[in-house]
Amino acid sequence: MANVIIRPDWYLPESAVTPESTYRNRRQFIKSLGLGVGLGSGLLAHDASAAVTAAQNLKLYPGKRNAKYNPNFRPTPHQWGTGYNNFYEFSTDKFQVQRLVGGFRTEPWPITIGGLCKKPFKMDAQDMVAKFGVEERVYRFRCVEGWGMILPWSGFSLRRLIELAEPTKEAKFVKFTTAMVPAQMPGIARLPQYPWPYTEGLRIAEAMHDLTFVATGMYGKPLLKQNGAPLRLVVPWKYGYKSIKSIVKIEFVAKQPKTLWNTLSAVEYPFESNVDPAKPHPRWSQASEEMKGMNGLRVRTLKYNGYGAVAGLYRR
Ligand code: MTE
Repeated sequence: MANVIIRPDWYLPESAVTPESTYRNRRQFIKSLGLGVGLGSGLLAHDASAAVTAAQNLKLYPGKRNAKYNPNFRPTPHQWGTGYNNFYEFSTDKFQVQRLVGGFRTEPWPITIGGLCKKPFKMDAQDMVAKFGVEERVYRFRCVEGWGMILPWSGFSLRRLIELAEPTKEAKFVKFTTAMVPAQMPGIARLPQYPWPYTEGLRIAEAMHDLTFVATGMYGKPLLKQNGAPLRLVVPWKYGYKSIKSIVKIEFVAKQPKTLWNTLSAVEYPFESNVDPAKPHPRWSQASEEMKGMNGLRVRTLKYNGYGAVAGLYRR
């Protein structure tokens, strides 16, 4: 195609890079409030009614930008990040999702953490934000469909949450589940053949990797509903469908969990799903991607989406 420019390696034009200092004034990383929910004994007595509200947590955003993670990339324009969404519980039309999330209630939002662990617990999403604080990380994001974005997330490493639960050595995988509220999610009824609720999974070592992020915000503010409020996963070296939205349950399990896309088609959506330009999707190439919001700019896709630091997880 004449108008498609394939650049060598990961390429960002000069105009896409903004010096950190000019991007935004950043607040100091807010110290964790340490809510002390008593994680000591069996299933928590904590009743999951939130001690902190989303409004009270507003002051924590965007959090200090983490200089380790692409701090100088200029994010994809806001209207693309928040207006071009995959959230099938609402719609398969990416431009419509933002218009259909109005009735979705994201507060209170109790999350259950359990399964093969010594200290299962239940905690509201806003209490997690208050407990862990948020930092900002700018990550590349690569959808399996062949497009990419650069997104400034706010949140915390999943590892910190996992450490609270103390998984046992039998726990080999982590399974994540999205809320399923058909009355508030009009897309569910339109896809009755889908194995709802939306589920995803990671190997425990992948889940513990520092890059694996629990996002509670984007573009310096709390997550919008179309992006998976109040809390979602972001696994930047894997295709976007692994980054499950609006999580209500996290379970430690011994066997590879069934996941929604993998159940629909294991060939098209393998469990591991690391970004790999050399491995085409059965129906299209994965060698390049369109950077959304950049006038059709097409760049070469990088192995692990450019996050080669994870390669050690896959040496067999
Ligand atoms: N999580 C849920 N619960 N439902 C979904 O449909 N879509 C996935 C992922 N997480 C999806 C989901 C896909 S395919 C992608 S590309 C990303 O969310 C899109 O995230 P974004 O809309 O914030 O860009």
